[in-house]
This record gives sequence, C-alpha cells and structure tokens, in this order.
Amino acid sequence: MDVSIRFRREMDKGLCRDTNPTAAVRMLPTFVLSTPDGTEQGEFLALDLGGANFRVLLVKVMADGEQKVEMENQIYDIPEHLMRGSGTELFDHIADCLANFLEKLGIKDKKLPLGFTFSFPCQQTKLDESVLLSWTKAFKSSGVEGKDVVSLLRKSIKKRGDFDVDILAVINDTVGTMMTCGYDDHLCEIGLIVGTGTNACYMEQMRNIELLDADEGRMCVNTEWGAFGDDGTLEDLRTDIDREIDAGSLNPGKQLFSRRLHKMVRRLVPDCDVRFLQSQCGSGKGAAMVTAVAYRLAAQNAERQRILDTMCLSREQLLEVKRRMSEEMVRGLSKQTHEQASVKMLPAYVRSTPDGTEHGDFLALDLGGSSFRVLLVQVQSGQRHKAKMQQKIYSIPQETMQGTGEELFDHIVDCIAAFLEYMGMKGASLPLGFTFSFPCHQSRLDQGILLKWTKGFKASGCEGHDVILLLKDAVRRRQEFDLNFVAVVNDTVGTMMTCGYEDPKCEVGLIVGTGTNACYMEEMSNIELVEGNEGRMSINMEWGAFGDNGELDDFCTRFDHIVDDSSNNPGKQRYEKMISGMYLGEIVRNVLIDFTSKGLLFRGKLSERLKTWGIFATKFLSQIESDRLAMRQIRSILQHLGLTSSTIDDSVLVKEVCSVVARRAAQLCGAGLAAVVDRMRENRNLNQFSVTVGVDGTLYKTHPHFSSIMQETLQDLAPQCQVTFQKSEDGSGKGAALITAVACRIKSEGQH
Ligand code: BG6
Ligand code: GLC
Repeated sequence: MDVSIRFRREMDKGLCRDTNPTAAVRMLPTFVLSTPDGTEQGEFLALDLGGANFRVLLVKVMADGEQKVEMENQIYDIPEHLMRGSGTELFDHIADCLANFLEKLGIKDKKLPLGFTFSFPCQQTKLDESVLLSWTKAFKSSGVEGKDVVSLLRKSIKKRGDFDVDILAVINDTVGTMMTCGYDDHLCEIGLIVGTGTNACYMEQMRNIELLDADEGRMCVNTEWGAFGDDGTLEDLRTDIDREIDAGSLNPGKQLFSRRLHKMVRRLVPDCDVRFLQSQCGSGKGAAMVTAVAYRLAAQNAERQRILDTMCLSREQLLEVKRRMSEEMVRGLSKQTHEQASVKMLPAYVRSTPDGTEHGDFLALDLGGSSFRVLLVQVQSGQRHKAKMQQKIYSIPQETMQGTGEELFDHIVDCIAAFLEYMGMKGASLPLGFTFSFPCHQSRLDQGILLKWTKGFKASGCEGHDVILLLKDAVRRRQEFDLNFVAVVNDTVGTMMTCGYEDPKCEVGLIVGTGTNACYMEEMSNIELVEGNEGRMSINMEWGAFGDNGELDDFCTRFDHIVDDSSNNPGKQRYEKMISGMYLGEIVRNVLIDFTSKGLLFRGKLSERLKTWGIFATKFLSQIESDRLAMRQIRSILQHLGLTSSTIDDSVLVKEVCSVVARRAAQLCGAGLAAVVDRMRENRNLNQFSVTVGVDGTLYKTHPHFSSIMQETLQDLAPQCQVTFQKSEDGSGKGAALITAVACRIKSEGQH
C-alpha cells in the first residue's frame, strides 16, 4: 500500500509542469491519443528495434465485420560492429533490411505507412518525432543521442532511393504492447513490460498532462517507471523488495510471477477490475496498430473537417448576410414590396416609453417562449424602476399547442382564472397586456392578427384572426370574470420595454430563445404602412423569416434542409432555424447521425434514441460547452441519448460539433444585428452611434459563448456602433405591463 501511495505521488510529480524536470518517474507524453476501435483497416509496416530481436513486419488489418489481422514478419541480424559503430551505418542497415523485406513480398513500389517501435528512452514532441535521450542495453552507436530517430531513418531510406514509406509513428514497447492487446480488447488502456527491464504506460486525461497545453481527450503516457526510486524514495523498503524477489526466485517461472502479480494488484485496488492479457505478438504489431489508428484518425478527421467546414462562415459571407438583411428591411418597410418581403417589419404601435407617472395594477400574459406565464405587475408612480411583480408559470401541453384554437385559448383563460384565484383576486377586472410572441399584423395597440404560427405552435383556426378577440371569446365562454384588453405585444418589444425602464438608451429588443427575433425604434417617416411622419415607432422585424425567399440558400447545409423538412413549417423561418434554441439541437443531432453513419463517430453504431426527433435538447449544447467538468457531463448526456459505449474521443467530437453549430448561430445573429444598428445610425445621420440592446431567451442566457461570439461579430461588422447588451432579468411580461400602463396613462390624459 505504501509503495503504491509513493508511486502515485511520483506520477503526480512527473505530470506537473514545475516538478517534471526533477521527477524520477518522467511520465513522457507519447502523442498516442487513441486506442484501436476496431474500424481500422489497411496494410501497415512496422519495425521493432530494441528487444532481443530486430524485426520487420507487414500487418494487414481488416475491419469487415470480424476484426482480423494478418502478419508477416522477418527477423534480421544486427551485427555487433553496427551496434557500436556510427549511427549512419546502423540506420542504413535498417533501411537495407526494410528494402529486402519489401522486395521479398513484392511490395517495394507501394508507399505504405510505417510504425517504429524504438525501445529506448526518448523525448517525443509529436507522434512521428522522437529524440533519443541515451542508448541503453547493448547499443552505443555514435551520433544518434540527441537526434530525432525518425529523421535518421528517413535520411537512410532516401539515400537508397529505391522505395519509400510514410513513417507515421515512433513508440515505446509498452505502448506497442498496449496497442497490440487493445486491438483485441478495447478496454485495454495500460501496457506493461516485465522482461529484461520493466516499464508501463497508460491512457491519461489530457488535462492532467501539464507539459502539454491541451485539456481535452486523453493521451498515452510512458511512465518510465524503471527509474522509480532513483532519488532514494524506496531506500527504506529495499530489503523488503529484495525479500519478495528472493522468495519469488525460489520458484522461478512466468506463471508464478503473473499469478502473484495479479493477486497483489487485486488486493491493493479491490475497486478496480483489472484483467491481464498476455501479448502474443510482441509490440511490433502494436506499432502497426498505432500507425493504423493514426492513419484512421487522420482520414476520419479530414472527412469530419470537410463536413464541419460547410458550417463555417467567412467574414465576407457574414458581411453578405448583413447586406441582404438590410435590403430585406427596406423591402419590408416599403408599401410596394411589403407583401413579398421575407422580413415583415411589422409596426408595433409602441411609441412612448414610461415617463414615471404611470401607476396601477396590471395583468400580463407571456405566451410563446419556453414557458407560459401569468403575471401581476404593480407600477408605482414616482417610483421609477420599482415595478413589483408576481408571476406563475403554467404548462401548455403539446396537444393544446397543436389542437384547436378554442382549446388553446380556453386553456389560457383557465390559467388566468387559476392565477387570480391564487392571488386572492377572483373576479377582478384589470387592464391586461398580452405578450404574444408570434408574427401579428397590428393596426393599433390592442389588436393583433396572427399571420402564421411559428416555433412549436400549430393550433387550428387562429391564423388570420385577432388574438385579442380569440381571448375575449374564451373569457366570455367562461362567464366568470371580465378583462380590459389594452395591448398585444411581441416579446422583443416587451423585452425592449423591460430593459428600457432601467436604461433609456435601450432602443433594440432581441430574443434568442426557442425562436429568434428583434425589434427596434424606426423613424415614422420610413414606415410606409402607418400614417404620420413624426417621431419613431417600434418595429417587430420578425427576422426569423429572413431566408424564406432564398436569401440564405447559399449558406444553408444539408443539415439545415433536413431540420427544415422535418419541422412544423417547412420552408418558413429559415434564419430562425439556423439560430434559435428550438433547432440547434436538431442540427447537432443530424450532424451526429451523419458522422455515425459514415463510421466517423460512436464506432459507427447508431442508437435508436439518437434517431428520435428533438432528443438532443438545446440545453445540452449549453451544458456541453461549459466548464472543466465538461467531458464527464458530455458522457452522461450521451448516455442519456442511449450511447452508453461512447468513448472520450466521441465526447470531444460531439463538443466540437456543438461548438461549430453554436458559433455559426451566434455569427449569423450578430450579422443580422449589425444590419439593424447600422440602419439606426444611418437613420439618424450619425457617424458614431451608441445604443443598448435588451436581450432575453434561454439560449442567449445559458450558452457559455453565444453572447461573446455574437458581440465580436457585431463589432466587426458594424464598427461605427457602440452596442451595450442588457440581459432582461424580468422577462417581457413586465414590459407588456409597462406598455399597458403607458397606454392607460395616455388614455386617461386624453379624457381629462
Ligand atoms: C422570456 C420572455 O423571458 O423569454 C418571453 O418573458 C420570451 O416573452 C422568452 O418569449 C424567450 O426565451 P425562451 O428561451 O423562453 O424562448
Ligand atoms: C418567433 C416568433 C416571434 C418571436 C420569436 C422569439 O420568431 O415568430 O414573434 O419574437 O420567435 O420568441
């Protein structure tokens, strides 16, 4: 127990950047990132130098269903004088042996990948670069220490000039052994040599290897544990160890040794189920396996990159998105083109912000985001910024969202009744503001004709109707209370108002949640659909529909088309489907399915759950990209998706897919916003313009990088605007109540 604790300490010392230089146990990174997953295939060459024999091998790996490996190998002699002669002679000899081997097999004209087991202490900087620290055993060739052995071998091969190989990896024999066994047993993550010398390697978490600046995935570490105790750590135990060895040598023989080893390991770590697999084929096959894995990884990586690249947008493309958005805004505002425009630029009839004299109790409804809420907002005059709020969240079952309009609005009224009862205000008739987060045509504040459902809603008999009337009808059917409907408000407008109550510079509202949309203050003179030229009015852009006329076709990928086709509203809300919470998880899921079906992920095994629509909730995207615990979280998320046998490499990949999809979303959103703020700047003839954007939405609020990437893009694409973002903490219901309060104040002023 004591030795194992001391060894543990030595390992930590070797892994830590500060203590590594003086550590006895060197913990050398090997740049082997992955063990075989059984899908490797191809022909590989291997050299095995440093054991009792020098071998050249040809390893054929077949992945068709049953894993099979065929090997040819030949032992070559290394004469004494070469082991102690010049390094050039030694490597020339190795190249000669290789040439002879290829000649014999008739494959001299193939340029095959090669792995090199070189069992001497080496410092590696890459998988295919390894500097000999010092010769051990019977070798002492001059001019090799301090040199990269791969370059020496390449030089000798080039000198001959009659064949070529692709040297992909140099490895230690422990690594070779782990890889040899790892091909048959995918759980093999430790390599152990107990021969003339002893050493071990194992797969370590990348973030624990401080010498490298990476924290994702794993890498094999060559412990070089033979040196354990060189600094005296084992002095007090030496006689005990000697006694063990003495006792063991009474009955020499491998079996006895291994039985003892197994028994001792089990006693020391009873919680670990350690199996010992004897390597039958030496470590040369392992060198070929390392090469095979490296080869597979490189090919797969290139393929994945090619796919992910289709989702990366260049600066020019983002500028083009901004330009087209500006164009659509103009088309949406103009009477002539409004009908055909994809971005509808709907006048929202909100013109004045609270002046602080509003007061009273107001009801608000907030429908269309991830939760439906009913609120009571108490506004006190003279107490600006001090609106008191009480709210309750009610669920809307999927069947109700997609049933009949009557069912939906009856349900909403049920919730209002329950809320009033809960507040002890049964029967009260209060002014009400309705946040209704769907595209509505308004010709006054208290009217909203639903143009079309978006997001997850699809209740029949509502499109083309005034939602205030639908709500009034439902109240009438219930015959229990009356309500005074004052305003219907889009969530973007509600959010702008909520934030504007605190910061008067807030003239833009942005939602990045289940859906995405923006509103801003436009000059009345530009709003052709509304009479009058004085002042400004808020415009609900409904920018989610940008792209519905093909404006985004050249940026859309196969995955966007799949997501669109399987949605409630194919062909509609194309921009929203590339940005918002309801769809990002779906894009990721489809990329993962594609990767898996091409054998680039999850060892090609597609789980039933991953095939389920909506299973990859967007909240997973936010979680997956968070903090240091991410890898463990990703694994548990993948388990939830039925991918119980996913590897760490799979987790790293899933994270990359999530990050590419979220980055594109944030950039697209930033490009749209750039069009908005630049338009506002130009409207006001300003060279520099500073403005605040009120923002809400679960994706924006919970994703660890969305807001920073969006802001970066915005700054890059609209450099003349200084934009401050203010997160709405109180939801848009408060804004709807404030809009209602302002409308009530203006109305009562009119009456006096
Ligand atoms: C809420 C607002 O905070 O955010 C809603 O009150 C809005 O009006 C919603 O629709 C948007 O975010 P999500 O993620 O709930 O769709
Ligand atoms: C959808 C709706 C829009 C709303 C947005 C954010 O795009 O059409 O009205 O503002 O989602 O919730």
